[in-house]
Amino acid sequence: MNPSLLPGQPHFAYRGDQLFAEDVCLGELARTYGTPLFVYSKAAMLSALAAYQRGFAGRKVQICYAMKANSSLAVLQVFARAGCGFDIVSGGELQRVLAAGGDAAKIIFSGVGKTREEMQQALMAGIGCFNVESEAELEVLSEVATRCGATAAVSIRVNPNVDPKTHPYISTGLKGNKFGVAHERALQAYQRAAALPGLRVAGIDCHIGSQITEERPYLDAMDRILDLVDSIEAAGIPIGHIDFGGGLGIDYNGDTPPQADALWAHLLARLDARGYGARELMIEPGRSLVGNAGVCLTEVLYLKPGEQKNFCVIDAAMNDLPRPAMYQAFHQIVPLERRAGPASIVDVVGPVCESGDWIGRDRALNVRSGDLLAVLSAGAYCMSMASNYNTRGRAAEMLIDGAAARLVRRRETAKDQMSGEILLE
Ligand code: LLP
Repeated sequence: MNPSLLPGQPHFAYRGDQLFAEDVCLGELARTYGTPLFVYSKAAMLSALAAYQRGFAGRKVQICYAMKANSSLAVLQVFARAGCGFDIVSGGELQRVLAAGGDAAKIIFSGVGKTREEMQQALMAGIGCFNVESEAELEVLSEVATRCGATAAVSIRVNPNVDPKTHPYISTGLKGNKFGVAHERALQAYQRAAALPGLRVAGIDCHIGSQITEERPYLDAMDRILDLVDSIEAAGIPIGHIDFGGGLGIDYNGDTPPQADALWAHLLARLDARGYGARELMIEPGRSLVGNAGVCLTEVLYLKPGEQKNFCVIDAAMNDLPRPAMYQAFHQIVPLERRAGPASIVDVVGPVCESGDWIGRDRALNVRSGDLLAVLSAGAYCMSMASNYNTRGRAAEMLIDGAAARLVRRRETAKDQMSGEILLE
């Protein structure tokens, strides 16, 4: 492999000692736009999407980008223009898709706690399908649709009880998880859906977890879902599409998840063998489309030697990059300009007043105050989970396309943060 390429992030590479995103020097960007700064490569997003498109060539498929991974408007525009639909989980996400020019008919609405208002908003917008997560939700959706004089296309999210072998916070398809309808109750739920006014059974779906790095859980989940399709259709309820959710992992630190095209070659072979190859398929990938398309640029503020640990204090924090604090997640951290000389072992930490505000532990870095670093694999579940904790403004974002760098979100100011608040008289 070309040593100047970063693992998992082929669109980010060193040219000489300078780190580039496509044809743009990241050090120059950081100096011009300030830090923390998220930088996304459009080519990286489209090449991640292309792996799915290759995998599904010749099939009837709708790829619905799970926008919770990164819901910035420019990112949504890239996927909308590439023909993607969207998997949404709130009325806010619906508004974002519409603002980005996405096609409402290609939206699927997931989530365990949709409100009546959100259901109505989605029906009025004409979304493609509701992924219903409980029998109680079926009743409410039927009531809302009937009141609006609309018919809601529904798919029931079935919990296949398959262990995705990932972090417990991001495993979603086990019996103990709050998601979906239990496999054993699914047929009953479909019978109810078919009987309720205002609903039309459109498909079936599942999602077993996130950052999955093995193929086995997908194959197991597929078998469980197809068994159900057999029994639901035997009961006289046709299932139009089959939605296999998202969840494919990315390489954060030498992880070796299957490639989307290879994974789907195997899943489709299984589907064909069971006679479902001609069905309309859907998937909801999030992380695997954007995770390794983004980095977060940050400046070293202080080096702080300690008795037990040496700290490297940077200007990005857990409010910008919440995954290490939340899931003990690993993100690689590399300099924007490589420098010869010995590295020392440091904990890379942010300025937020919490011991949990670390970005990387025990990292070998040769850095001085004022140096610029990139936190890698930061395209998914970073900006979309960013907060204003410590009244820190959310970072700016840039989209790179070849040699062109476009600011797609300006840095949030304290004034922006206070704009919705009301002072006492
Ligand atoms: N569909 C549904 C119904 C989901 O719940 C999720 C993610 C996805 C699709 C997309 O999954 P993906 O392809 O991105 O794995 N914040 C966590 C990840 C939470 C994932 C929640 N559900 C993290 O930073 O690791």
